[in-house]
Amino acid sequence: MSFATRLLTGTAAAFVLALPAAAVEYKIAVGDGAGGTQEALGKAFIEALEEQSGGEMTGKLFLNGQLGDEQDTVSAAATGTLDFSILAINNITPFSPSVGTLTLPYVILSQDDAETVTQGEVGQQMVAQTIEDAGVRIIGWGYSGFRVLTNSKQPVSTVADLQGLVIRVPKNEIMIETYKSWGINPTPMAWGETFAALQQKVVDGQDNPYMTVYAMKFDEVQNHITDLHYLFSIEPLIVSESIFQDLSADEQAQVLAAGEAATQASAEFLRAEEAKIREELVSRGMEITEPADDEQEFIDLATTAVWPKFYDQIGGKEVLDNVLTSLGREPA
Ligand code: MLT
Repeated sequence: MSFATRLLTGTAAAFVLALPAAAVEYKIAVGDGAGGTQEALGKAFIEALEEQSGGEMTGKLFLNGQLGDEQDTVSAAATGTLDFSILAINNITPFSPSVGTLTLPYVILSQDDAETVTQGEVGQQMVAQTIEDAGVRIIGWGYSGFRVLTNSKQPVSTVADLQGLVIRVPKNEIMIETYKSWGINPTPMAWGETFAALQQKVVDGQDNPYMTVYAMKFDEVQNHITDLHYLFSIEPLIVSESIFQDLSADEQAQVLAAGEAATQASAEFLRAEEAKIREELVSRGMEITEPADDEQEFIDLATTAVWPKFYDQIGGKEVLDNVLTSLGREPA
């Protein structure tokens, strides 16, 4: 069973559920630090996995990218050298372009939208496509909230305010093009390098949800937040498809059920925690600026310029239309 390891009885006693003498312990890579959505999803998954398997299976979280940068964990899981990973969906897109539909700006407009899309037919299609393209299976969905823009220089309320700022983005073409539509050339950079780059002022800012800004302690190196809503961050839990296929049918069912339980727990976690985390960041000295004119300028520029550029890559305009109509919106 790949890199999963066997636990000894003494260790097992520490878990809420008494684990059998030799439970299988899976390694779960986590991109972010403690206190955010990814850790909450991982903890909920481990608890449900132990319960589902009667203690035969468990997992261990490796936070802060200890098992590799988020995009690298996709390759590691695809080759079966890593069991599970929890990461932002934008870091899966380079391996499975159709998932990019969920990275297009202003497609997901609320947590309800995110849950509808991921837990419905569209989500199922993406699971299948990701197995085919990337050799990893999405078994759970984490919900982290909208990616807000942070920077260390100035309040940003309009597209004009953004000019001149050096903004880090993930190595994700859709996000790069989104910033270009707002008139700046962003700096693509791996997640693991981002804190140091902000600290050393190699870049002025970045975007990520409140939960992630908090989990990564970005408040120590950033003081301005712009409350943008261009991208609702979905953070899947993936398993190596080859490791999944090595499991018995019963074990597969247990892993899938644990993933579903973790998905529900993640949705509840965000609803319960996001407002508190936002306040906590303010109490630590971060200033929040609302985008002018209800964000209309950001919305118009990004949707007009970015959506059509990626129709081919996501599998055709109809893929986006399918998502929009499933959310009760007009086709593009
Ligand atoms: C990124 O910006 O690369 C990701 O959103 C980081 C994360 O997973 O939180």
